[in-house]
Amino acid sequence: MEELKNIIRDIPDFPKKGIVFKDITTLLADGRSFHRMVDLIAHRYLGQKIDQVVGVEARGFILGSALAYKLGTGVTLVRKPGKLPYKTRRKTYELEYGTDTLEIHEDAFKPGARVIIADDLLATGGTMAAVLDLVEDLGAEVVECAFMAELEFLEGRKRLPEGKVYSLLQF
Ligand code: PRP
Ligand code: ADE
Repeated sequence: MEELKNIIRDIPDFPKKGIVFKDITTLLADGRSFHRMVDLIAHRYLGQKIDQVVGVEARGFILGSALAYKLGTGVTLVRKPGKLPYKTRRKTYELEYGTDTLEIHEDAFKPGARVIIADDLLATGGTMAAVLDLVEDLGAEVVECAFMAELEFLEGRKRLPEGKVYSLLQF
């Protein structure tokens, strides 16, 4: 696991002064690390009867689609405003460096669908709290929120339901 952690690099003062940005592009770009990261996370959900994986724009699409492929499910997109073509539900939320809005198609799930929500990184938890609301409001059951990495000092986990958060790498 240390090997995977070490390949993620810190970029100080991005996108704003005072933020240390965890740059996961280095992990994604390395074939062996990418493969290992996806396999380790997917393994957790094999045999758990997952119906759908939700990916959060933009970096969450990468883990989300890889997990969906591994689990043999479809992938549902949660997108920044104005990108989804059909009728949507939306939610505005705060994140470590500003505010943002996310949308999902209102017919995204079959009733009671068991879903995993995937994102690259858990920081303050604002993004995932908003996505959880969107997904649960549409009648899906969230089995777990899965992250490649978690910034533990920001305590984002506390904003999310206990026992529903998994991260592969902790900083
Ligand atoms: C980043 C990251 C998570 C979110 C985590 O997304 O990919 O979605 O921030 O922060 P939080 O836990 O404080 O909410 P960003 O909005 O920067 O979008 P991107 O994936 O399009 O770069
Ligand atoms: N998303 C929110 N905070 C972040 C950080 N510090 N590094 C990378 N992605 C983030």
